[in-house]
Amino acid sequence: MREAFAALFGAEPTGVWSAPGRVNLIGEHTDYNGGLALPFGIDRRTRVAVRLRDDDAVRVASGFAQGDGVIATRLDRALDAQGWSRYVLGAAHVLRRELGVEGTGFDALVASDVPVGVGVSSSAALESAVLVALVELWGLDADAHALIRIGQLVENEVVGAPTGTLDQSAVLLARRDHAVLLDFAAGSAEQVPLGFEAAGLEILVIDSLVRHDHATGGYGDRRRECEEAARIAGVGTLREIAPEAVEGWAARMPAAVHRRMRHVVTDTARAAQVAALVRAGRPREIGPILTDGHRSQRDDFEDSVPAIDAAVEVAVAAGALGARLTGGGFGGAAIALVDVAESTRIQAEVADAVEAAGHARPTVFAVHASQGARRDPEPAP
Ligand code: GLA
Repeated sequence: MREAFAALFGAEPTGVWSAPGRVNLIGEHTDYNGGLALPFGIDRRTRVAVRLRDDDAVRVASGFAQGDGVIATRLDRALDAQGWSRYVLGAAHVLRRELGVEGTGFDALVASDVPVGVGVSSSAALESAVLVALVELWGLDADAHALIRIGQLVENEVVGAPTGTLDQSAVLLARRDHAVLLDFAAGSAEQVPLGFEAAGLEILVIDSLVRHDHATGGYGDRRRECEEAARIAGVGTLREIAPEAVEGWAARMPAAVHRRMRHVVTDTARAAQVAALVRAGRPREIGPILTDGHRSQRDDFEDSVPAIDAAVEVAVAAGALGARLTGGGFGGAAIALVDVAESTRIQAEVADAVEAAGHARPTVFAVHASQGARRDPEPAP
């Protein structure tokens, strides 16, 4: 990357910063409802090599789209950016505004092996890598909490996706072999050792190839339905509804709105159960809870798609301990918890069976919990 940067921009980068994609183990659409979620950073990263300039020019290049070449603009033109460069320029823009700093221009080269549009937060990885780079290079004082909020503002304001803070929290706080238990009501984050490696387990990502866009898709509709449920129930967020109280609301709101409520409340309960089991060293036992979570998304939250339902079904039939849609839904990927010893066989069987059921042949790959956003170590001389 350093060589490619030097060839493009005529000087070595000051450093390379990176951030992982994320998988959410359980707790979906709970972030903007004050619930719980349990994501982890994956061993697929977005890297950004950066060098500050002494003017306000910004030049960015990436391997995302062939033929984009170098995009040349200025710091104060961030909101004109298009495509993937919105995440880079948007991060710089919101960071400057929120911290009240001028900043200077920069050259940046982006390279990533986080697949885009799959539901593993390629966008949060890119924003967060840029944010940690600029915080260091501009000499700013901003903790992870501030950067999580800034990343969310990039999505909400610059990209127009009304998303919560799950993805940025996962990407910024991730640790190797840990998930992070996020409590969106308390604003807290607790590291939970997963112990997957020791238990001979791993997570497969099954990419349906059905693409989603949270700026235009059903994500915003679901968010409004959750707000409606909270309003009818007279609570600030659905976190205030106890699982035992859910059925009591059935006759008092539209059936679909009630189903959304039931998903959010029960998925928070599932996230707590899964966190407790892995903490107790019983990670094998979380499988059925993951699969229950999928049924809840499919039937109650209705954010799954047939190709992902098929992936979950065939993964479990092939021997996965549990499987579910991960991320915001309406496309994207399923995850499956499998024995490492069975992983290769299950990967092949799942791809075959999903294709045989009439869907696109999914791309299946294993992921392992990895380190969050950081400055990458310099290569040995
Ligand atoms: C997307 C959003 C997150 C969260 C999830 C669903 O990933 O970016 O904020 O709402 O969907 O859990």
